[in-house]
Amino acid sequence: MPVVALIGAQWGDEGKGHLIDLLASQARLVVRYGGGNNAGHTVVNHLGTFKLHLVPSGIFDPQTVNIIGAGVVIDPEVLLGELKELEARGVSTARLFISERAHVIMPYHVQLDQLQEQDRGEGKIGTTGRGIGPAYADKMSRTGIRMADLLHEQTLLNRLRVVLEEKNRILTRLYGASPISLHDTYLRYLELGHQLGDHVTDTHAIVQRALEKDLPILLEGAQGALLDVDYGTYPYVTSSPPGAAGACQGAGIGPTRLNAVIGVAKAYATRVGAGPFPTEIDGPAADTLRQIGTPWAEVGTTTGRLRRVGWFDAVMARYAAQLNGVDTLAITKLDVLDTLPTIKVCTGYRLNDAQLEYPPATVAVLEQVEPIYEELPGWMTPTTGVRRFHELPEAAQAYVARLCQLVGARLGLVSVGPGRDQVITVAEIF
Ligand code: IMP
Repeated sequence: MPVVALIGAQWGDEGKGHLIDLLASQARLVVRYGGGNNAGHTVVNHLGTFKLHLVPSGIFDPQTVNIIGAGVVIDPEVLLGELKELEARGVSTARLFISERAHVIMPYHVQLDQLQEQDRGEGKIGTTGRGIGPAYADKMSRTGIRMADLLHEQTLLNRLRVVLEEKNRILTRLYGASPISLHDTYLRYLELGHQLGDHVTDTHAIVQRALEKDLPILLEGAQGALLDVDYGTYPYVTSSPPGAAGACQGAGIGPTRLNAVIGVAKAYATRVGAGPFPTEIDGPAADTLRQIGTPWAEVGTTTGRLRRVGWFDAVMARYAAQLNGVDTLAITKLDVLDTLPTIKVCTGYRLNDAQLEYPPATVAVLEQVEPIYEELPGWMTPTTGVRRFHELPEAAQAYVARLCQLVGARLGLVSVGPGRDQVITVAEIF
């Protein structure tokens, strides 16, 4: 199966990082296709613990070529910081290529993201404050700056002159903030382009060559399907399509070339930021799921915010699987449930007298639904040392099987800890 997209099937933070790390070691090309440094992947491997925001996880394998695709929005300062840290820790970044079509997150995007959030008051989305929404908005309104522009002095100056005039009017007149200097911004971003220049290229040719040679290609997802700008819990979503369609678009690979879509879901559910979360819980069970102080603790990799936690929501997961053509499910963090005597799974929603099969589109309605739960027995046995599926306690096997049945996908991977070796392979992916 040469072309595989790995996507989040929940609200992001599904523990994709260590699965990507494992699969990247089997792939020859890894393409990060969307989002920006709102994402954070924690990777634990033989070289140590790494927190990646933009660099694809294949960077740790000397065999693998890594691409940041056209669908990604790049904060060059953040990317350079990440590259410097990797180099300092002995990881070569020579095989990283950045699409010249990828858009740049500019300082005014970050500033506007934060100012807009402040203005939203009670209706805050809880964005990561990294400028993601404003950068994608500019891309769509055709006022964005792309990586290629940073390498072309006259283009950068011309575009910045027009764009900054508008942004400065918004910043000063609407928000009473200081204007951004054209001179300083131009020189700084020219310099950043210069520093990243060796990596910036037309990645289309690299992707096509890999496709022609039938090399194993991993499309590395960020965020999750329920944060999708079209199908997620709008407006509490991110500003890109993080699913399988976004993978094709952002990587520049036609949909007919995709061989498999792996949906990654935690064995329970979490959400960081605001927005509806029907199966959210509080109290002792929630504390167990949050497991403060463990390497698996439910704290956002990018923002350090405590994640909201809840039971596995099969209505949402099935919806995400259907929308993205998920054929293989990867269940992460099964070990977090090890001490629970019983575990709930949401199999449907009740709204007044009706039973719903799919999540309603309107947040106000979604907030009124009542989850219908099925309660399954826990296994009360540690699973972190298990390396084969059939060695898991029977109740754990049954739990995972039930999730797959409800979601409608075969089981591919199960993880029982943050390490690469703690991923149990049930079905070969490549
Ligand atoms: P933005 O992407 O920074 O605009 O944030 C929009 C929403 O998506 C907020 O609720 C964020 O918490 C959420 N979000 C964005 N990226 C991630 C991620 O990588 N993991 C989890 N949540 C995310």
